[in-house]
Amino acid sequence: MGKENFFAEPNEGLDRVDGRAKVTGAAKYSAEYEFDKLAYGVLVESKIAKGKITLLDAKSAERAPGVLAVIWHANAPKIPGYEPGDNPAKPPATSQPHRVFYDDKIYFSGQPVALVVADTYERALHAASLVKVTYEKAAHETDLHKNIQNAAAPKRGSDYKRGEVDGYKKAPVILEAEYTMPIEVHNPMELHSTIAFWNGDKLTVYDKTQGVKSTQKSLMDAFKLKEENVQVHADFVGGGFGSGLRTWPHVIATVMAAKKLNRPIKVVLTRPQMFTMVGYRPYAIQKIGLGATADGKLVGITHEATAMTSTYEEFTEGVVNMSRFMYACPNVNTVYKIAPLDMSTPTWKRGPGEATGAFALESAMDEMAYKVGLDPIAFRLLNYAETDPQRNLPWSSKFLKEAYQLGADKIGWNKRNPALRSMKEGDWLVGYGMASGVFNAGRGRATVKAILSKNGSMVIQSAVSDSGPGTATAMVGIASEAMGLAPNKIMFEMGDSSLPPGPTQGGSTTVSTLGSAVYEVCVAVQQKLLEMTAAKDGSAFKNTKLAEVTFKDGMMTLTGNSSTAISMIDVLKENNLNELEVTKESQAGDERQKYSIYSFSVHFTKVHVHSLTGVVKVKEAVTVADAGKIINKKTAGNQMIGGVVGGIGMALMEEAVVDHRYGKIINNNLADYHVPVHADVPHIDALFVDIKDPIINPIGSKGLGEIAIVGYAAALANAVYHATGKRIRELPITPDKLIG
Ligand code: MOS
Repeated sequence: MGKENFFAEPNEGLDRVDGRAKVTGAAKYSAEYEFDKLAYGVLVESKIAKGKITLLDAKSAERAPGVLAVIWHANAPKIPGYEPGDNPAKPPATSQPHRVFYDDKIYFSGQPVALVVADTYERALHAASLVKVTYEKAAHETDLHKNIQNAAAPKRGSDYKRGEVDGYKKAPVILEAEYTMPIEVHNPMELHSTIAFWNGDKLTVYDKTQGVKSTQKSLMDAFKLKEENVQVHADFVGGGFGSGLRTWPHVIATVMAAKKLNRPIKVVLTRPQMFTMVGYRPYAIQKIGLGATADGKLVGITHEATAMTSTYEEFTEGVVNMSRFMYACPNVNTVYKIAPLDMSTPTWKRGPGEATGAFALESAMDEMAYKVGLDPIAFRLLNYAETDPQRNLPWSSKFLKEAYQLGADKIGWNKRNPALRSMKEGDWLVGYGMASGVFNAGRGRATVKAILSKNGSMVIQSAVSDSGPGTATAMVGIASEAMGLAPNKIMFEMGDSSLPPGPTQGGSTTVSTLGSAVYEVCVAVQQKLLEMTAAKDGSAFKNTKLAEVTFKDGMMTLTGNSSTAISMIDVLKENNLNELEVTKESQAGDERQKYSIYSFSVHFTKVHVHSLTGVVKVKEAVTVADAGKIINKKTAGNQMIGGVVGGIGMALMEEAVVDHRYGKIINNNLADYHVPVHADVPHIDALFVDIKDPIINPIGSKGLGEIAIVGYAAALANAVYHATGKRIRELPITPDKLIG
């Protein structure tokens, strides 16, 4: 399709088109819009993990200054989309996973039980403290280890095997190990927030969401509204990592309050509420069995995972999937189970499934490399999957070998002494570790509209939101390259559900999905321009194919014949057009039946471990992505660096601690739930193989948001092992696990 040499030129990438707006504060986040008569809602949460509300005394709250309403299950307006009955997981399918203010039942600590609305935030907050809730408690279980006997295969998803089950047990060299992933909370900087107001039966919502169309659909389903009567805005989003992929109970509560009070309502979650109301990465226990020959050929892999879900909903993710195809191995089986706990439903968090699974598999691969006496890279190369062993299909592209080489050279892998506990700098033990990552490289469906104006500028539009990776910048880059127009002539409009339908920003698919649509709409615009000019009497472009035309600096030219040059503006003018508008829907073809399409990464890291205190400092990190053609090395580099920072958190710090006596997360704030700060993060090198994938889509680019984090925690655990000789299989790797 279209031009052969798309992105043939080296391209370091545009500066962020919204960079100035973001650093000057001009970029508005969902909570920052002002409306006449805007009122403020504060949610009251359940203090118990399971049971029911016997009494909710709102009298003092209602009498407090400025209070407009206290909404709870006894007085809440009915949500027409909620299905009646006992199952709280019967809200509309695309919507939030729990019916807010539906009945007296409590399913998790932190469940919203009331919304207090007042004329100022402070008054609402004060009044919320006056709401007295009495509960009848029931016995709860929030400990996966204590409920593991109730783990079962989810309704969707099945076990996998090729060759023999537990075939690893017959190998000469065997490793069996168990790995634990704690609950991790997304904690984007921007708190989840919603502003909602009604105009008759028209609903407008400003929401922190990774998908304006998916939120619109949720609200259509919940309130039984037509598409044209729901408008969702998310102009800027301050991080998501997956927490913005669903429409949560607080969004419905805000819309409900706006209806009841007939005025605009704003609800901003508190940081503690971010731990219970917008999902988290589920706790998971994994068992890996690896078998190899004495010279390091894999004989078998068994990967069994048990993860938590809530009591009211099955949340599943691909924890064990990567073990099926990552390495060439004749006997592989995987088992995935979930067990219900009395907590809110988990959700996707960056690298969902694979980040958990890769910690186990890639730690185990390192352990086995030592057992068979091979360098961890040599061991992986010996078992390299040249084709997909799960589906028996070729990869669309795979340059993981090249990625190993790039990263190893950069960090000086071969210069280290591979013996355990052999390297020291002062009081610090020194360790190097590496591990791989992988994630499905998807492509969804998107519609993009392009409007080329006779002033020579072009607007492209799609209903997407950008949680931070730089979607608009990437799209302007693609359109600029494709159209031969300067980037400052191109504007990408997004963040509004009334624009042509775009994808939800999730699963590392935005550039692949939307970028392809932007590219294809540009080709369609060029085709139109060519047809218009070729129709002219005596046109040099008669019977010309698009591939024979060069678009550059606003001009179209028969390639190699500069005398044929005509400006795009003149083509519009000659046709008496003020603008040329083209809309294009774009989606994947049948290539996914013929190829396995994944992005790959490899992470290298160097750590210092203090020999007495067990403190771990990350000294270096090199991350390499094999993600096809890189559209913008600056924003893609930011993504990779951000993933490593998240990986450092996963490896060393992040853990939501549940006090099982109360079934409550007790470190529900950023003082006690640690994330990496600048002092924890070394210089990070983000490198790219940067070779176009010829199969996935017309731009040759695969996603990389997830592979940026998948595998990093294993690389760090492997580095700690190299430094200390201690294998930590339970994240996070805190000093107490390294001393004694
Ligand atoms: Mo990502 S977990 O798909 O936002």
